[in-house]
Amino acid sequence: MKLDQIGNILDNKTTGKVKLGGWVENLRSSGGIQFFIIRDGSGIIQATIHKDDVDKKTFDEASKLTQESSVIIEGEAKEDKRSPSGYEVKIKKLKVLQVAEEYPIGKKEHGIDFLLTNRHLWLRTRKQTAILKIRSTVIKSIIDFLDEQGFTKVDSPILTPTSCEDTTTLFETKYPGGKVYLSQSGQLYNEAFIASVRKTYCFGPTFRAEKSKTKKHLAEFWMLEPEAAFYDFEDNIKLQEELVTYIVKSALKKNKRELEILERDVKKLENIEPPFPRISYDESIKLLNKNGFKIKWGDDYGSPQENFISQQYKKPIIIHRFPAKMKAFYMKPDPNNPELTLSADIIAPEGYGEIIGGSERISDLKLLEKKIKEFKLKKNNYEWYLDLRRYGSVPHSGFGMGVERVVMWICGIDNIRETIPFPRTMARMSP
Ligand code: 4AD
Ligand code: MG
Repeated sequence: MKLDQIGNILDNKTTGKVKLGGWVENLRSSGGIQFFIIRDGSGIIQATIHKDDVDKKTFDEASKLTQESSVIIEGEAKEDKRSPSGYEVKIKKLKVLQVAEEYPIGKKEHGIDFLLTNRHLWLRTRKQTAILKIRSTVIKSIIDFLDEQGFTKVDSPILTPTSCEDTTTLFETKYPGGKVYLSQSGQLYNEAFIASVRKTYCFGPTFRAEKSKTKKHLAEFWMLEPEAAFYDFEDNIKLQEELVTYIVKSALKKNKRELEILERDVKKLENIEPPFPRISYDESIKLLNKNGFKIKWGDDYGSPQENFISQQYKKPIIIHRFPAKMKAFYMKPDPNNPELTLSADIIAPEGYGEIIGGSERISDLKLLEKKIKEFKLKKNNYEWYLDLRRYGSVPHSGFGMGVERVVMWICGIDNIRETIPFPRTMARMSP
């Protein structure tokens, strides 16, 4: 059964004989003509069946079709200005694969709970399909970019004995003879890989039991984490700026149709080019205080503060040199002020939140031991990590980028749950 694809017909302006397999997204009939909107995952096209063109049996079968019925059609594709996609298929042969039962997702507005319960069906709608395609572009462009930069993908484990970030968000799970945690970050393992492949990245699912319900946090999300030997703080930021730019440009190029479906204002993405504006944490606190936010030096931003900062700029904004006490144990202190770290976050414009968190790492054994103590971590668990400083320690840096946050920003959608096929949040685990 060799089938053509609607996407190819539209892209290549194909006319003549075609054979398509797909789903009936919409249908109506008028006089002796039945109109169908057929979707096949690659595109959407109008198809018509005329009483005079087919035998009675075929016409009757067509009239029994319902929304989401699956079919194979054969016929003639032609240009048609009246059809929404500009093309139409005149059906000559119809094979009904299944007549769908009454479809729960209709044309009326549904509440978010209903849609999430029916996520397995909701995924078929135009908007959700567009988001999935953009997500795929984001992932492919990440891999292409890092490959071009000479990075080797090495996979870090999902079951881990220790924490990397905030211990309060750990997901604990049973393991023969004890307990383990689902990975919060592959970073510590990345730091082992660099002595093997120099420039590495891991990319996989990441788990955090985030207590608060927000529009930007998932319990399971995908994080890209590059790590490179002999990269300092500045090299790290340059890599981030180039990566983010590459991703945005790829989506603008490959996903015109999808961005249109999402009604994304692409002008806001077209200006994304390095260098990104920078503000230090110190300056950001002054800026916030001047604008009426009650935030003290050493506090983390809430969403309103973060949004306010991002709205001052048209590009992603780099906030750098956070206080050591509010960041992770492995971050290198700023040589000019050891109360600060050589860390930086990138905040997406338009209020989409933090897309990247990274830093130069501590490479000195004694200092790292001191930090592990200060952060009240069990040194025993980190002996292997300290070995990386005992045997050929080098300056190195890395970062983590939340794929869903980037997809959210590029798509211009206001809740992260639509950026991943089956979102897991503290409130929902199914389907
Ligand atoms: O800033 P974070 O916590 O950094 C780390 O985990 C580092 N160990 C990464 C590294 O240096 N290798 O997380 C990195 C990014 C955030 O900037 C954000 O984009 C995303 O991961 N992120 C989340 N995305 C969705 N839901 C959550 N609960 C997220 N938590 C973090
Ligand atoms: Mg962070």
